[in-house]
Amino acid sequence: VPVDAFDLLIFGGTGDLARRKLLPALFHRDRDEQFSADSRIIAVSRGEMDDAAYAEWVHDALKEQLTTKELEPAVWERFAVRLYHYSLDMQDDSGWAGLGDKLDDTHSRNRVFYLATSPSLFGTIAGQLAQAGLTDERSRIVLEKPVGHDFDSAREINDAVGEVFAESQIYRIDHYLGKETVQNVLALRFGNSLFEPLWARGAVDHVQITVAENLGVGQRFDFYNRTGALRDMVQNHMLQLLCMVAMEPPASMDHDDIRNEKIKVLRALKPITPEVVDRVTVRGRYTAGIVGGEPVPGYREEGDDPEVKTAEQDTETFVAIKAEIDNWRWNGTPFYLRTGKRMARKLSEIVFQFKPVPHSIFGDQPLTPNRLVLSLQPEEGVQLTLMTKEPGPGGFRMRSLPLNLNFPDAFSVTYPDAYERLLMEVLRGNPALFMRRDEIESAWRWIDRIIDSWHTRGVRTHEYMAGSWGPTDSFVLLDRDDRRWAQPE
Ligand code: BG6
Repeated sequence: VPVDAFDLLIFGGTGDLARRKLLPALFHRDRDEQFSADSRIIAVSRGEMDDAAYAEWVHDALKEQLTTKELEPAVWERFAVRLYHYSLDMQDDSGWAGLGDKLDDTHSRNRVFYLATSPSLFGTIAGQLAQAGLTDERSRIVLEKPVGHDFDSAREINDAVGEVFAESQIYRIDHYLGKETVQNVLALRFGNSLFEPLWARGAVDHVQITVAENLGVGQRFDFYNRTGALRDMVQNHMLQLLCMVAMEPPASMDHDDIRNEKIKVLRALKPITPEVVDRVTVRGRYTAGIVGGEPVPGYREEGDDPEVKTAEQDTETFVAIKAEIDNWRWNGTPFYLRTGKRMARKLSEIVFQFKPVPHSIFGDQPLTPNRLVLSLQPEEGVQLTLMTKEPGPGGFRMRSLPLNLNFPDAFSVTYPDAYERLLMEVLRGNPALFMRRDEIESAWRWIDRIIDSWHTRGVRTHEYMAGSWGPTDSFVLLDRDDRRWAQPE
């Protein structure tokens, strides 16, 4: 069923996110006939271009992102007529009233403002929209990450946007929440009676969350150099994953039921203080190396003027953390988080390492404790390792084997990109997969504490070679607790 007619305004409509993610996602949803005939997409950016020139720009972008087969001419024709462009300097007071002329004043379409700009503009844009009389209680606003770069700036943005929009109208994006396997965590945990009784400190030795990327910082050097892995990946994606696996069962799938449980986890995260920071966190930065058989430069060689930019800053491209949740369920069961750029390969997974059996009846045969692996990327699936008896008459030999559920094989379909799902949820008006104000702010509080502790203790980055699994110290982090990362095996 197509969603109700909409005007989707994309601020930053000629930017990188629009080109790589938003427009291909919208095109796909239009192809599947989910948009009603008079829905429109209105890009707002500083560039001078008319609607036709924008349509051409979008066509080029889609050609780059989609296969020729996907870019069906009939679908493109339908999509192209939805596209409009409005030139606006968002930092300037003039021009906002003219934006209203682009929109219909009957308010027959839902109005969605998608802010794919620098977060420093979020408050300004919301204020200008209100002043120009373009908002009403039905309109929605989408904020791309990052919402701020620390607790104070996040609060400022939330306050400014909150003056114009009610919380229920604000959709803060974390695209990890749109990923299929992340949603499957809910299905797995709460659609089966098998796991929940074991999902706690009694049975789980520890949890590992890895988000490894093989890409470097690429074109985003300037942004990244000011940001670092902790702010770029942990504050949002990794903490969201942690919340999904660690939260208490929500009463229903209702958005606030889920978000109420997630916030409790964030609030229970043990603060990382200067006294412990060098034992429970590791910062890394990649040097030149080989990724996928290709030589790649080190972090210091990235960007236009790297010597100047990296000289004073010790930005981390890798971070590992031993996180602890101070609550009844998880006390004593650490969550080890790690994420990095230019690592050996792209791999995102959540590993539940179960405790060993309390007593072995198999003499000195080694037993491998069970492990449940939720794979997010590159393949989506669930794997459970079990001890089994090797077949044959040659005595009783134990062996660990995986029960393997691979989603693409099981369902033989390819899934929409996370952005497709999230855009549809915004257009339908369902905020469950977005972050509430208190979640963002609690997450920043925990992250700010780590950054402060790094400064207080002067914690520096350790080098790791591009194409490796991160600095040696990240292995020591687990070694110290007599544990190992599940990857590399
Ligand atoms: C973004 C980060 O939020 O997520 C990027 O800013 C990162 O640095 C990206 O590369 C990873 O997303 P995905 O979906 O490729 O895992």
